[in-house]
Amino acid sequence: MLRRAARFDSRQKGYASVMSAATLASSPRFLMCPPQHFAVTYSINPWMDPAKWADDGAALQARAAQQWMALHATLLEAGAMIETVPPLEGAPDLVFTANAAVVLDGKALLARFRHPERQIEEPVFAAGFHALAERGLIDEVIELPRGVALEGAGDCLWDRARKLFWMGCGFRSDERAAREVEAAFGVPCLPLRLSEASYYHLDTAMCALPCGGVIYYPGAFTPAALDTIHAHIAPADRIALTPDDAVRFAANAVVVGRSIVLSSCSPELRHTLEARGYRVIETLLDAFQRSGGSACCLTLRLDHRAQAAQAQRRAS
Ligand code: ARG
Repeated sequence: MLRRAARFDSRQKGYASVMSAATLASSPRFLMCPPQHFAVTYSINPWMDPAKWADDGAALQARAAQQWMALHATLLEAGAMIETVPPLEGAPDLVFTANAAVVLDGKALLARFRHPERQIEEPVFAAGFHALAERGLIDEVIELPRGVALEGAGDCLWDRARKLFWMGCGFRSDERAAREVEAAFGVPCLPLRLSEASYYHLDTAMCALPCGGVIYYPGAFTPAALDTIHAHIAPADRIALTPDDAVRFAANAVVVGRSIVLSSCSPELRHTLEARGYRVIETLLDAFQRSGGSACCLTLRLDHRAQAAQAQRRAS
């Protein structure tokens, strides 16, 4: 595993050497965490069944490692740069770096987790962000007040077309965290109450595309949250998922330029996204879904800029 990770690094350098400085500077940059210690050893969402995981043991671990490497390679091929935080034994969910922090304009607002099982990740992610700051990849690391839960970008999606954050609450993050996000980043943050335990983080049920389209699963939201969504997103930009696409976590997608990377989706959803000009890349991540996660959960975008969103919007 370590050897393979090293190979990825040299491959990334290979990419770097053939890319111009300007391309590199504008490349999407993600944070990931290798899955050496990934497992399902406790249950904090309905997908997690430690007994079932233990039954399949080593085979699932190997499958997870192979699927993570395929995702890593796919993102690199799509033009992304990837930073990593080191895995930690006893912290199996550290692979889900989307939960590490909310990041915008070079600022990282570190997560505070709801469950003790994941609170052990907080110092690891804090150290990871301070290391990124030392390398000039992050300008400022901000802490939430104690007692306010916010599980990073997994519950706080940047909508670059609308210049706002959508924040999931009800299962993991506290509604009042929205005010902290607004204070930290100076942009609106709209809380959306989640109603279905299987879609406990916002990124399991929603994905805001750069074109203004928004993938979402209506069944995951309260009626009030759906009203908020519909008030801000025009019908032509609503890409509502069927239960079949929702349950394969098709909303848990990573956007890299015009590529959308996800575990799997129906031919209908693929067609809808292709009609909007995207290339849809499926890379199966079912081993991670045993923990309630998929593509987006395994990544954290580090380079979103509110200013760039403004310029992009004016240009289109
Ligand atoms: N087992 C993890 C948890 O329950 C999965 C986290 C998935 N991450 C995400 N951004 N949805 O916290």
